[in-house]
Amino acid sequence: MSIATAVINVDVEGPTISRHLYGHFAEHLGRCVYGGFWVGEDSPIPNEGGIRLDVVEALRALDIPNLRWPGGCFADEYHWKDGIGPRDGRPMMVNTHWGNVEENNHFGTHEFMALCELLGAEPYISGNMGSGTVQEMSEWVEYLTRDGDSPMVRLRKANGRDEPWRVKFWGIGNETWGCGGNMRAEYSADISRQYATYCRDHGGNKLYRIASGAADADYKWTETLMQQISCFGCEATPRTFFQGLSVHYYTLAGPWSAKGSATVFDTDDYYRTMLSAQRIDRILTGHSTVMDSYDPGRKVGLVLDEWGTWWDVELGTEPGFLYQQNTLRDALVASTHFDIFHRHADRLYMANIAQTVNVLQAMILTDGDALVLTPTYHVFEMNKGHQDAASVAVHLRTRDARRRVGDRELDTLSVSASVKGGTLLVSLTNLDAEEPAEVTLDLRGRPVGEPAGRLLTAERLQDHNTADVPAAVRPRPFDAMTVNDRGLVVTLPPHSFLTVEAVLA
Ligand code: AHR
Repeated sequence: MSIATAVINVDVEGPTISRHLYGHFAEHLGRCVYGGFWVGEDSPIPNEGGIRLDVVEALRALDIPNLRWPGGCFADEYHWKDGIGPRDGRPMMVNTHWGNVEENNHFGTHEFMALCELLGAEPYISGNMGSGTVQEMSEWVEYLTRDGDSPMVRLRKANGRDEPWRVKFWGIGNETWGCGGNMRAEYSADISRQYATYCRDHGGNKLYRIASGAADADYKWTETLMQQISCFGCEATPRTFFQGLSVHYYTLAGPWSAKGSATVFDTDDYYRTMLSAQRIDRILTGHSTVMDSYDPGRKVGLVLDEWGTWWDVELGTEPGFLYQQNTLRDALVASTHFDIFHRHADRLYMANIAQTVNVLQAMILTDGDALVLTPTYHVFEMNKGHQDAASVAVHLRTRDARRRVGDRELDTLSVSASVKGGTLLVSLTNLDAEEPAEVTLDLRGRPVGEPAGRLLTAERLQDHNTADVPAAVRPRPFDAMTVNDRGLVVTLPPHSFLTVEAVLA
């Protein structure tokens, strides 16, 4: 058993944890949109205007703050005007990125905005810079957000929507270094400025423009973009072309050529996965450090708008659909990421897990009318109290909560904490596959009331939920907490995630 003390100064509040760190991503990929969110109005599956209500209900319980759409790689092939107007008149296209399947454009702008309204989530639209035009992107912004009279306003009204929508988050391209156009950073920076110029703030709608950023640890890309982020010559009214800069990072157990199965893996694979997950800390630090030298006031947000695990697709499923199961291992990847995100709250403004339903590290898996909540879903739900809370620094003292993995050391204990509305929320993850961890929470600064704990674990790391066994991995109440003269003592079982909540007295 490893022993640790977590010193938490409850009365010293740090940067706010943006609720957008708990953001989501829905691409026209496999069964994420079609079958996942959208079943069509004629479906026997209960729906509102074609949108599946069981999925909406499950996601509302997560307080999902935003939803990124329509891609991903798909965004740079998507032409929004194909997805408006009467559905039976919408042109078909081929989704060449993801399985070469027919895309009938039945889920378009109005359907997406209706989904966001049902979810209570802010839309994050990813515009096409790879194969679209400046005019096309500019007109999409106008169509969505302009009031009064204009060609795009008339078109929107003709399609049944009089009032403009509010759209804040706007992506200028996606992965422009790869599927979004195979550009050089210099070129991407230049044309991102051009596109951003014509994505106007209409009336009171202020856009938060997110430039397509780096993959993994490509700090040079971030540096090139940051060099171009400011408007030279407008020092009298200083502004930046972009308000956010993205980065993408996926967790794998090995190289892309040998990602391995979501459910069949051994302990070595597991520990390698966790090393990969923890790498996000260095990556965020690296990008933040570059950004600090160009934007010391931290006005530009870092946006990790794709993250999560990426395994081989489930046997017998279409390789281009990226459908994978989700085990306790995935849940611990998520809880580890959130602790790291909370520590980067001063620069990291948004993060979007890839992807919400039926694709990669999903919250929800559907099969016909069946719906399964994954272990990852439960981490999002247990952690939702951190959204818009004040982060509280945690000083972790331990000598033995680590493991040798190859030639590297893995920290097996991870803790983060926040305070919101007079309530303290502490999240703890024990990554050790075999050993429990005893943690003393040394809470300083303010007395706390009776703590309430919830634990997510399972007998095996490989355990997961299915339509037949939907609750193999689910949170349970945890009351094995004792108080001694050093604090509140909790013992986390091996491979587990625990939240402890207490009202500040
Ligand atoms: O999330 C799946 C894909 O991963 C996205 O379409 C792309 O942006 C990334 O490479």
